[in-house]
Amino acid sequence: MSMTPNRSALYMPGSNARALEKAKTLAADVVILDLEDAVAPEQKATARKLVTEAVAAGGFGTRQVVIRVNALDSPWGLDDMAAAAAVKPNAILLPKPNTGADIQRATDALGRAKADASVKLWAMIETPLSILNIADIAGTARHAGSRLQCFVLGTNDLVKETRTELDAQRTAALYWLSAAVTAARAHGLVVLDGVYNAFKDLDGLKRECLQGRSLGFDGKTLIHPDQIAVANEVFAPAAEEAMWARKIIAAFDEPGNLGKGVITLEGRMVELLHREMARRTVAIADAIAARG
Ligand code: COA
Ligand code: MG
Repeated sequence: MSMTPNRSALYMPGSNARALEKAKTLAADVVILDLEDAVAPEQKATARKLVTEAVAAGGFGTRQVVIRVNALDSPWGLDDMAAAAAVKPNAILLPKPNTGADIQRATDALGRAKADASVKLWAMIETPLSILNIADIAGTARHAGSRLQCFVLGTNDLVKETRTELDAQRTAALYWLSAAVTAARAHGLVVLDGVYNAFKDLDGLKRECLQGRSLGFDGKTLIHPDQIAVANEVFAPAAEEAMWARKIIAAFDEPGNLGKGVITLEGRMVELLHREMARRTVAIADAIAARG
């Protein structure tokens, strides 16, 4: 089993050349080079040029490189898509899909742009309709030729559109967050939590990362380099967790346990489903360790 860590995904404005350069030195698992919300209309063309040149030049190492394009029905969307596809990022992040048909439209646009088969499609989950249609959106992952790989929660947009007010426990967001995680899991997608705006409050960030992890997220989207270490720590298996996982795998491999569906390990019932979880934990821990 091979796993790609997605603990930390740092957004940066595509118009910020310094940030694009700095990205190559940061410990983020994913960098999201943004052409959308973080770029003012008059800077859209400059940002597209800066981002596509940076991606074409490479130097991002093991980091996954994702380009967030403008919505396809905006004046920039289709040109962004074509320019982004041409430089072969790991993925293109689509803002504001509402339905499975919107995912299909983006997939078709990538096809028309002759995007390499390796270029995946990531989808923002940030509109009320996307929450209502989340099963339809995630289900497109089963379509022939699907590139859909990951959901990224856009909690700021959801707060705006629904007029909710989030408390420290994100009570009003729990429905969105769980809906997105459940749909992602049903169709084998990666799912990343929304951003924590108060980027100087690392304790608050840690609490929110822990909450996101307990809700089932694979990692967190971030807005500032200072947030990376916290997300990397919280979304990695803890040392004890990885050790316990290795023990479970070893126990099922013991000759006396071969073929068994359930065993006792250190006074606890352990089933084959726990071995499956353990294998995943070990694969992630190994992938992170290999990253150094
Ligand atoms: N990615 C890469 N580098 C970043 C960065 C980011 N998201 N945010 C800050 N940096 C860099 C700065 O360029 C600066 O680098 P330098 O020391 O080499 O000059 C360093 O980190 C320190 O930055 P700091 O002064 O603390 O932050 P700031 O006041 O310049 O910027 C924000 C604060 C919030 C405007 C900025 O972090 C940002 O633009 N974040 C991303 C916003 C975004 O993309 N939003 C869309 C999705 S929600
Ligand atoms: Mg948004």
